[in-house]
Amino acid sequence: MIIVKTIDELQKARKRLSGSIGFVPTMGALHQGHLSLIQKARSENEHLIVSIFVNPTQFLEGEDLDAYPRKDEADIKICEVAKVDILFMPTVDTMYEDDELCIGAPARRGYLLEGEKRAGHFDGMLQVVMKLLNLSGANRAYFGKKDAQQLALISQMVKNYFMDITIVPCEIVRDEFGLALSSRNVYLKDNDEKERALALSRSLKYATKMVMAGELDVHKIKSEMTNILSVVDKVEYVAFVTREFKALKKVEIGNTIILVAVWVGKPRLIDNIWI
Ligand code: PAF
Repeated sequence: MIIVKTIDELQKARKRLSGSIGFVPTMGALHQGHLSLIQKARSENEHLIVSIFVNPTQFLEGEDLDAYPRKDEADIKICEVAKVDILFMPTVDTMYEDDELCIGAPARRGYLLEGEKRAGHFDGMLQVVMKLLNLSGANRAYFGKKDAQQLALISQMVKNYFMDITIVPCEIVRDEFGLALSSRNVYLKDNDEKERALALSRSLKYATKMVMAGELDVHKIKSEMTNILSVVDKVEYVAFVTREFKALKKVEIGNTIILVAVWVGKPRLIDNIWI
């Protein structure tokens, strides 16, 4: 594995690769969820590029960029063991200049749910993903379904800007109790919070069970989910949308994503299920 920090180094290293390239962009603090993307990308491509870059433009005012977990040494080891060919670790100055041209998230899909709660977050996310995808020169890039709205917006950007890369959606990885893996889970401070956090996956499982039993009415399913979620500190949203993020009144089998966002103690947790 080689570690590169500048655009020039990355481009030289990439030109030495021949054959298909898979790419996994990350913000580091790698966990099993990232590893599953990396392993999938490894198995489907001849070469593998991973980036670690904590992107400042997707953090909003008041969100603590400096507090974002950084674990470079451990991350480098994980990438080495996972047989990454190129690990790209740029600085902010390498990635950005002053007064940049920006692309923005689309008005409807980009400013509801996560986009409403964190207005502007998706603009910054798309800005950096556009740069990273272009720089990687990869054939395929891998993103988790856990950040479903992020995945939908990246897929839309690739389509709208005619970018020559395939976006590969990857399944959510959960711990043995059903909690979707996230770097924020470390902030669940005790067993009580960990136990209450399981209400997310429990509510989604219950919703699936209702759908499988023939219930398609969103209002009815939502109200059962809200009961299950009553143990968390605050429910931000329970939403039923199509794969295109249009709100649904009735579940469409094969075209529905159910999403939840809640607070348990310090962390804000999200989860979803694709039906
Ligand atoms: O999902 C993430 O970790 C980030 O949003 C991404 C896609 C690496 C862009 O900074």
